[in-house]
Amino acid sequence: MKVAVLISGRGSNLKAILEAEKENKLGKAKVVLILSNKPEAKGLEHARKYRKKIEILESKGYEKREEYDKILVRILNDYEIDLVVLAGFMRILSPVFIEAFRNRVINIHPSLLPSFPGLHAQKQALDYGVKISGCTVHFVTEEVDGGPIILQHPVEVRDDDTVESLSQRILQYEHQILPKAIQLISEGKVKIEGRKTRIVS
Ligand code: GRF
Repeated sequence: MKVAVLISGRGSNLKAILEAEKENKLGKAKVVLILSNKPEAKGLEHARKYRKKIEILESKGYEKREEYDKILVRILNDYEIDLVVLAGFMRILSPVFIEAFRNRVINIHPSLLPSFPGLHAQKQALDYGVKISGCTVHFVTEEVDGGPIILQHPVEVRDDDTVESLSQRILQYEHQILPKAIQLISEGKVKIEGRKTRIVS
């Protein structure tokens, strides 16, 4: 199963995926492409270290989201990508993209969805005062952060947490559940049933 990882920044989730692959913990998945919409994305260092193919697709020059997404689909098809992993890719994907890769795009989000979708999920959790937050891997649909949930992990929110401390604690679990989800999907163990998924053993 050929995987593309899409990033925009730091790339710590990408690093976790590449480390998992090196340790043969990614099932039948093979990371064949790292794509960034930012040429300066720090995470590209990990792609270089692991000698992965890199594509940069900046959003400059594309008036409409759909125009950008059509090029994105073309690149991913050129690499015969089976699964697209959004790992801190800071763009909302249009229906053009979702349709082309239906049930083949996953995302990592730093809250227990459906709580706190969208940007700054950790700050939203702190501001709301929840005692438990966490992270979620889910399939991507037209609804932002709203697709079928694959894996989640809870994280306790402490009274003295800051956005940074909570984000950091959640991140450790992101690095576990995202590679795990890729492994499960690559082994055909994730069945989508309506708005749910079922993990088969
Ligand atoms: C993570 O918090 C992820 O949940 C969110 O964006 C952040 C990306 O971090 N979608 P990194 O670039 O993987 O370090």
